[in-house]
Amino acid sequence: MGAASNKLNVAGLTKRFGPLEALSGVDVAVDRGEFISIVGPSGCGKTTFLRIVGGLETASAGVIELDGRGIVGPGSDRGFVFQSDNLLPWRDVVSNTEIGPELAGKLGPEQRARTLKLLELVGLKGFEHYYPRQLSGGMRQRVNLARALAVDPTLLLMDEPFSALDAQTREIMQTELSRIWEEGKKTVLFVTHQIDEAVYLSDRVFVFARRPGRVNEVIDIDLPRPRPLDIKRTPAFVAYVERIWKLIENDVRVSVLEEHEG
Ligand SMILES: Nc1ncnc2c1ncn2[C@@H]1O[C@H](COP(=O)(O)OP(=O)(O)OP(=O)(O)O)[C@@H](O)[C@H]1O
Ligand SMILES: [Mg+2]
Repeated sequence: MGAASNKLNVAGLTKRFGPLEALSGVDVAVDRGEFISIVGPSGCGKTTFLRIVGGLETASAGVIELDGRGIVGPGSDRGFVFQSDNLLPWRDVVSNTEIGPELAGKLGPEQRARTLKLLELVGLKGFEHYYPRQLSGGMRQRVNLARALAVDPTLLLMDEPFSALDAQTREIMQTELSRIWEEGKKTVLFVTHQIDEAVYLSDRVFVFARRPGRVNEVIDIDLPRPRPLDIKRTPAFVAYVERIWKLIENDVRVSVLEEHEG
């Protein structure tokens, strides 16, 4: 496959914040419909990378192409899901979900039908007119996901979307996201600190290293789909987790020590 047929093509991406080189020479190519996870120690530039692809931040150098075109800013071809839910407290589930279409001037009966279908897809049927304060953390993250999907992006950018959830809710959200991805076949870039989450969800895992941030290794996850949750206990799965953990272990140790030193 040539570079032109890639969904996302990144070459020589470098990002400097003043004297700090947050990313240095990042090269990745992502195929249409791939599920990619990004793991790596705190501060290695994962969020920065996602923000650059999302058009929320500009690169200092390098090529970043989406569907063969350079990224010039945010667009409805990309949907973002952040760690915090940032829902608007005065809007109910439906109108929080429709913020994107609203900004694009696309509200109406057709959009409403789509919104209701999306809410059903993320498991919120029956909660359409609840307000954020009436929802659990997991439900709020489902609204966030529906909101990102509402603009019908071809690329979904997810930055630790499940990290605030308890372990059980998190696993349920993993299976739900996997199911939604199987149905829609969107391209996904998913940042997580939980390696088993990365392995469970992904076609490939990008392992970032720090100082400066770069792609250290790309791991193909060759596990059959759909993946039941108990695949996490299989030797093949555990071997992937161990392999990735070994790749970042030392980096993580250094970054934790630095954080303690302030
Ligand atoms: N707007 C900014 N101005 C200055 N420095 C920044 C800015 N954004 C990020 N950085 C720096 O860039 C580096 C990468 O930050 P980034 O948030 O991308 O890391 P991360 O991999 O997402 O970390 P974490 O796992 O903790 O979320 C860090 O050293 C951070 O301090
Ligand atoms: Mg981050």
